[in-house]
Amino acid sequence: MRDLRGVVLAGGSGSRLHPLTKTTNKHLLPVGNKPMVYYPIEALVSAGIVDILVVTGVHHFGALVAQLGSGAEFGCRFTYKVQDRAGGIAEALGLAEDFARGERVAVVLGDNVFDAPLGPHLDQWRQSGKGAMILLARVPDPQRFGVPRFAEERIVEVIEKPALPPSPFAVTGVYFYDAAVYDIIRTLSPSARGELEISEVNTRYIAQGQMHWAELGGRWTDAGTMESYARAQVLLRH
Ligand code: DAU
Repeated sequence: MRDLRGVVLAGGSGSRLHPLTKTTNKHLLPVGNKPMVYYPIEALVSAGIVDILVVTGVHHFGALVAQLGSGAEFGCRFTYKVQDRAGGIAEALGLAEDFARGERVAVVLGDNVFDAPLGPHLDQWRQSGKGAMILLARVPDPQRFGVPRFAEERIVEVIEKPALPPSPFAVTGVYFYDAAVYDIIRTLSPSARGELEISEVNTRYIAQGQMHWAELGGRWTDAGTMESYARAQVLLRH
């Protein structure tokens, strides 16, 4: 898939996993038999994506590069970019604009571990033309995530960490965007938690009638809290 570039977002502070993340980057912690960030990378490579940007923070940049290298080991080419502070997922994605060179991007959060193939979802999205696509997973605790609100089969909004979730789904950290995403990011203001929110980006696409969605399938969890990290170990056990 030469017309599609991959982005793995591995910035952020990892504060919810202290003290595990005091000297080790969250994305390098083991899940099953490999470091957490291998799951998003391998998912992109398995879908045929060869150019992948890895965005990370200043503190563990060296360790991440030492672990991942050029990409030869994975069958891809890595480009690295630094996010100076944890200004949000949408801010981190904004750093991909030059790398993307006007192509569409498949974005995966570095703490999302899953085993569903992305190829079929990417094919479905590419056939549908422009816009974006989000992938959903049914979860017992949607209030921890971005949650879609439906009107019949249509998603009308994505609400970030709602106290009263309007559906039993999490928007997973797997997103596909066309080149319009950077203009949207430029118009965002920081949320109450001081971040540029990816849920706001997704809600803008929905408002323009340009958002596609599907259920991710397979096994999925984030691994950014002690509880979900422990869950990931059990869920992705080989
Ligand atoms: O896992 C899916 C969820 O991820 C979505 O349902 C939410 O809508 C989305 O906001 C996000 O929620 P979290 O609160 O769990 O995101 P967190 O701050 O833990 O960041 C997840 C990953 O994103 C992290 O492993 C690295 C990357 N990231 C995050 C921030 C805040 C960055 O690269 N830079 C950042 O500034």
